[in-house]
Amino acid sequence: MKIFLDRQSPKPIYLQIHDRLSSLIKSGALQAGDRLPSIRSLAENLQVNKLTVIEAYNVLEADGVICARQGSGYFVNTHLVSANLKPTFAPEQEVIIKEPGGNSFFDMHVARVQAQAQPGMIDLSFGFPCPPKNIMQISKRALKQVDVLCKYDLPQGQLVLRRQIAQMLVHQGLDVSPEDLIITNGSEQALSLAMSHFVQPGDWVIVEAPTYYGAIAILENLGAKIIGIPMKAEGINLELLEQYLKSHRPKLIYTISTLHNPTGLTTTQAHRQKLLALAEQYECPILEDNAYEGLNFEPVPAPIKALDKHDLVTYVGTFTKTLMPGLRVGYMVVTGKHYQAILERKLVHDIHVSTVSQAIVSEFLASGHYRRHLSQLRAENIQSRNIMVQAMERYFPAEAKWTVPKGGLFLWVQLPADIPIGAMTKEALSQNVLIFCGSAFFPDKQGYPAMRLTFANSPQDIEQGISVLGKLLKKHLDKSGEKISKCYTLVHSI
Ligand SMILES: Cc1ncc(COP(=O)(O)O)c(C=O)c1O
Repeated sequence: MKIFLDRQSPKPIYLQIHDRLSSLIKSGALQAGDRLPSIRSLAENLQVNKLTVIEAYNVLEADGVICARQGSGYFVNTHLVSANLKPTFAPEQEVIIKEPGGNSFFDMHVARVQAQAQPGMIDLSFGFPCPPKNIMQISKRALKQVDVLCKYDLPQGQLVLRRQIAQMLVHQGLDVSPEDLIITNGSEQALSLAMSHFVQPGDWVIVEAPTYYGAIAILENLGAKIIGIPMKAEGINLELLEQYLKSHRPKLIYTISTLHNPTGLTTTQAHRQKLLALAEQYECPILEDNAYEGLNFEPVPAPIKALDKHDLVTYVGTFTKTLMPGLRVGYMVVTGKHYQAILERKLVHDIHVSTVSQAIVSEFLASGHYRRHLSQLRAENIQSRNIMVQAMERYFPAEAKWTVPKGGLFLWVQLPADIPIGAMTKEALSQNVLIFCGSAFFPDKQGYPAMRLTFANSPQDIEQGISVLGKLLKKHLDKSGEKISKCYTLVHSI
């Protein structure tokens, strides 16, 4: 491999190495699965410092082009040869109206945590990342700040962490100050604080259908009436949204604009602008949940909050999907008059978020390990998403349709109307495969038959899990086919 370096050029050497390797990969001279030269040998060969090669490899890794395998070196990512994975998501556009009452969040959460802990269980249900490799080391360093950790904190959280988050958000196109931020116990608490601030019992609230079941549960608890507007590939159905904004005058629109849970879809830029324009026209606040931020394989549009000039959007993020759910560190951006009221509500809930958890997240951000951890996660997740989609193409019947998310942790499989998805979820569990039944993501707990599958798993578990699900799907389709043909014979014999 020849890499020519121009030492007179203003372009840094590490970028020259990066560009040359990128073009070798694009041209096919380096192919998916190929091993890159070791850091030491390339540094010697080019007569540069090892750190220069590490920096070049870090940028290629962040581009999603190469990945590091522990103990074996750097390899060209295999997803580069799988660009033909096609999403087939095309759901019916039916609005769901849900009156107050009913809440199964508690039972559902507890049952899944217990099932997940069973030995040998293939968990395609929960969405959380592999723990960072250096968590112990970083935590030890964070715990050294005894003076800060031993005192009570402000309800909005530590200033140093709020500054770091504000800086991180600037890279996403969201220019906020630490004074607009409140650190929360996961994003679930942020959603709860915002929803209880904006919504009174009996108020109408608009959500995407399907949407995150934990948000539905909060709204059910508040006694809200929920309108589920269907999702399209580019985001919420705007025609239906406008119709219901006009007729029902809702008090809040809840949207997961980027790497939506459960579909994995990202609302397009044009759609974001129109959504905000409608919210402004009908003076309806937006709650923008960006729980999967940082897990995108490709650039994503800036948050809707970045377009907000009238303090209409409350923005929510979290570190539970990128670092560890158990840290319970999330945050919200609240600009304008609502900040103080939400902060006071936060204080009476739990005083403040654990100073230990805040210090650990802060140390991850300060040390640069967070950025490296994210690029590692993205590289692993791209591969496992591809492995899952390829396995579905092999094992699933043609009637199943799915999204191919450009990030996040899971994808959404839409099934034919006659698949008994509740029964199938139980059958899969009896074969040690835990999936998330799609009905949980619809406000009326019904919707069309579907399942959410987490791809952040080992290739072996994905292969095994998808083959079990494929067999179950085919069995149920054969059964429904038999029923139809029996009916058909009956009609003819009358
Ligand atoms: C879209 C979305 N928002 C919020 C949450 C809550 O996450 P946490 O409270 O762990 O940050 C989740 C968890 O699954 C989620 O998927």
